[in-house]
Amino acid sequence: MLNKNIFIFLKNSLFYILFFLFLFLFSCQSSIKEHPYPVTQNATTSNAMAVSAHPLATRVGLSILKKGGNAIDATIAIQFALAVVYPRAGNIGGGGFMVVRTNKGEYASLDYREKAPKLGSRDMYLNTDKNVIPNLSRIGHLAVGVPGTVDGLINAHTKYGQLAFAEVIQPAIDLAKNGYQLSPKEVNRLNKTQEAFREHNTTMPVFVREASWKVGDLLVQKDLAQTLTLIRDNGRAGFYEGITADKIVAEMKAGKGLISHEDLLEYQSKWRTPIIGDYKNYKVISMPPPSSGGIALLQLLKLVEPFPLSTDGFHSVDAIHTMVEAERRVYADRAKHLGDIDFYPVPQDSLLEAAYLLDRMSDFSKDKATTSESIAAGAFEVAMESFETTHTCVVDKAGNAVSLTTTLNGNYGSKVVVSNAGFLLNNEMDDFSAKPGVPNMYGLVGNEANAIEPGKRMLSSMTPTIIEKDGQLHLILGAPGGSTIITAVFQVFLNVAEFNMSLEEAVWASRFHHQWLPDQIMYEKDGLDNAVKKALEDKGHTLNERAYLALIKAIQVLPNGDLQGVGDNRSEDHAEGY
Ligand code: DON
Repeated sequence: MLNKNIFIFLKNSLFYILFFLFLFLFSCQSSIKEHPYPVTQNATTSNAMAVSAHPLATRVGLSILKKGGNAIDATIAIQFALAVVYPRAGNIGGGGFMVVRTNKGEYASLDYREKAPKLGSRDMYLNTDKNVIPNLSRIGHLAVGVPGTVDGLINAHTKYGQLAFAEVIQPAIDLAKNGYQLSPKEVNRLNKTQEAFREHNTTMPVFVREASWKVGDLLVQKDLAQTLTLIRDNGRAGFYEGITADKIVAEMKAGKGLISHEDLLEYQSKWRTPIIGDYKNYKVISMPPPSSGGIALLQLLKLVEPFPLSTDGFHSVDAIHTMVEAERRVYADRAKHLGDIDFYPVPQDSLLEAAYLLDRMSDFSKDKATTSESIAAGAFEVAMESFETTHTCVVDKAGNAVSLTTTLNGNYGSKVVVSNAGFLLNNEMDDFSAKPGVPNMYGLVGNEANAIEPGKRMLSSMTPTIIEKDGQLHLILGAPGGSTIITAVFQVFLNVAEFNMSLEEAVWASRFHHQWLPDQIMYEKDGLDNAVKKALEDKGHTLNERAYLALIKAIQVLPNGDLQGVGDNRSEDHAEGY
């Protein structure tokens, strides 16, 4: 009898155990379908903060900060981690820009933008009729610029790093070796890109597989782990020389690309003087050429400074009209005057001169849109003799701040993965002007200033920015988003400074964008009231709806000294601090 009761008890218990086990597994499964990691897009802490495009990368940064690494160590660790867990833009085969403000109030900016290979030439994307060959600068081996990321990150570490380099890069190696679970957005992108990966790779990369990727699948990248280990053990020589360089050059040969051993060996990132200017009681520190970001942002701010934006109100017809008219004029200047300052005499001082900027809005009408046709770039004397995208923000406990934007350009760059080395190569060559007046993939037009030359850096819109208020660290921000980066940074800053928004309101608010050509206001879906759109059309503007405009990441130092980190609610950005 007793035996029988024990048997019934065990049978029932087993039933419940199995039932709860099933429930547990089912609930894990359903949370995986949602997202394999908790994502926080708005966090406030008192010591240190990091915001990046991926929760795992942000957490790598946080672990470095907690170990006593400074903001630069954490940023570098995040960049290597993003190269693993955010392959669409995080990279070692691309380039970027970094702006630093130390806790002593010193500023620095690092340019590790890609360069045209030595065998590149002005007309390399034109056919015999001098027309642009579609896609040649956008996909495949010929689209690749000489990567700058590894040199840049090592250069930044040498100047500012506190922890050993091996310690900073190790989390990325572990993520590549052990794998990580794919998020919904990454799955979506990987599945969409399968055909392009197959078409443009000689050896099938780990991103390619027969069955569709599913949320929660583990992506293990053994080749990438090995490449990162070579970088850990040999520094820049682990990438620009030896095995990795041989693999890059072999990949180029297999796909008729142009990058040579010499290109790799000679690549060097550069510290440049940041663009610094004022807007009311704010000081703006941003990226100089070869990014157009800093100059364009400061021009925009100076053009709208005399206008009563805060009285007009956020997304009022008058505020949008004023800001759009400023954007139109600034992008006209960008198209003509901006390029790699090492190769083209960018008239930086003239573009930022107070009298010029005051005059630039003299033909502005409150009632009527100016046509882009009637707006030419400013005319300056140019001295021809003197030649010369994901975002991360970190603030450490000591108050050092870093704002960094990096990119492969398009999603997964050129789609080319270096055979047996496991990393994607950029398609940054499309940021050059392949032919004067012919738009690139962001619709941007360019000219002589941004024509292709061997060893030259292509013009960028990346705008990693740090802003002080009354002399104190106030905002760190930047974004991916091609040509829309500059106007997104401009608007988020004004949302805080003029429209009195909290940081999350400022970042999550809808945005608009004008870039001179095409002559239209792009606005985010459901982002503007119908009455506002109608009033803008009545002034002569053309409107064009977009899914979203740029993905801002930002940190604000709150009045009590706390740090608020905000990721974009348009993405899977993650903010975390301690
Ligand atoms: O440097 C630039 O301006 C572009 N290559 C940035 C690309 C970008 O932001 C892509 N992200 N959406």
